[in-house]
Parts: sequence; C-alpha cells; structure tokens
Amino acid sequence: MKFFVDTADVAEIRELAATGFVDGVTTNPSLVAKSGRKFLDVIGEICDLVPGPVSAEVTATDHKTMLSEGRKLVKIAKNVAVKVPLTADGLKTCKALSSDGHMVNVTLCFSPGQAILAAKAGASFVSPFIGRLDDIASDGLGLIADICQIYANYPAFRTEVLVASVRHPMHVVEAAKLGADVCTLPPSVLHQLYAHPLTDKGLDQFLADWKKTGQSILDS
Ligand code: E4P
Repeated sequence: MKFFVDTADVAEIRELAATGFVDGVTTNPSLVAKSGRKFLDVIGEICDLVPGPVSAEVTATDHKTMLSEGRKLVKIAKNVAVKVPLTADGLKTCKALSSDGHMVNVTLCFSPGQAILAAKAGASFVSPFIGRLDDIASDGLGLIADICQIYANYPAFRTEVLVASVRHPMHVVEAAKLGADVCTLPPSVLHQLYAHPLTDKGLDQFLADWKKTGQSILDS
C-alpha cells in the first residue's frame, strides 16, 4: 500500500518526506486556503520535495476551463496529478487529460457507480472519501470494498483506489486488508500509526535494564 500525505503545508511535507514513508501528496482547495500561500508556488515546492504523484485540483466547474487549468497545472512538474471532481465535466476533462498521458485523480467519489465512471474515463486514481461517508452514518470502508471488488473484475481498469478522508489508523489498516492501492493520510494519522503503549512500555523496560549493565555499544 502506498502512503500519500493529505496536506498543503510544505514544511510539514518536508519533515514527513524524511521518514521515507511518503509516496505522494494530495492537496485540495481547502488545504491550499489553509496554507495561506499561492497555489502554483505550493505545488511546485511540493513536487520538488516528493518524486511521487502530487495532486493539484482544478477549481473551474466547466470542462473547457477545467481542461485549461489542468494543462497549466501539469506544466508545473512531471509528477503533478490533476485532480478533478466526479462530475460529468470533470470526467470529460479526466478523459482528455489522461488521453494526453497525464495523471488524473478523480476526487469526491461517494459511490461504486461513480468509481466505475472514473475508471472508464482513464483516471490514474479515484478518491473515495470514507470519513465523510462515516460522518453521515454511511459505510466508508464498505465503499472501498465495493470498488476494490469491482476493479478486480476488470483487469483493463488501471485506476488505483486512493482512500481519502481518512480519520484514524484503523481506516488505514482496514483499507489495507481490502487491498486498496493508496491511502492519503492527514499527518496526524501517519504519526498515530507509529504509536502503541506496549512499544513505549517495552522500550522503557529495555533501556532501564540496559542502563544497569553500564555498557555502551559505541564505546565497546
Ligand atoms: C483527498 O484528496 C482529500 O483532500 C481529503 O482526503 C479530504 O479529507 P477530509 O474529508 O478530511 O476533508
């Protein structure tokens, strides 16, 4: 499973990239607004930091303008994946950009039927938002199961399932059990994945016992 990080905070991405766990980045207009920075500058800097796909979202809603925006975004760097919403115009734009050889991430997916359309439009990634479904008492991980099952039936579909709107580590674990290709993680969830109280407790005990030996590996 690949890990993308879901943030437009360049300093945070720099720090996370150093862990070696960051295979790509997703941004959206809300995350860019939160950064308070110029969109194109932010995407350029992220693409320099992370060699994998960096999703940059169009903000037009009509096909013609979306396509122009997408063509501008892909000029920033080779690893830009143009993010388009799962609308009729978005899918038309996906088809045009992917036919030209560009990566496209179809976002705001909330149903298996929508995911089929994204695959047929040649998307590199489809982003089902599982946390937002859970928020309305629907089954986010059930959607991932459905999409993985459907895509597995059609080897000609090359679209990767990019689990989005992830809220906690168990979303990641369950999505991995289902065979999802990618999870995009808020930085806090990536940090939470490391944590286990028995790891902390075990390490404290080992270090306390080691101290009693009076030894040092480096001085031996
Ligand atoms: C993914 O590409 C989206 O930017 C993101 O996962 C949305 O998450 P949210 O529901 O926490 O805003």
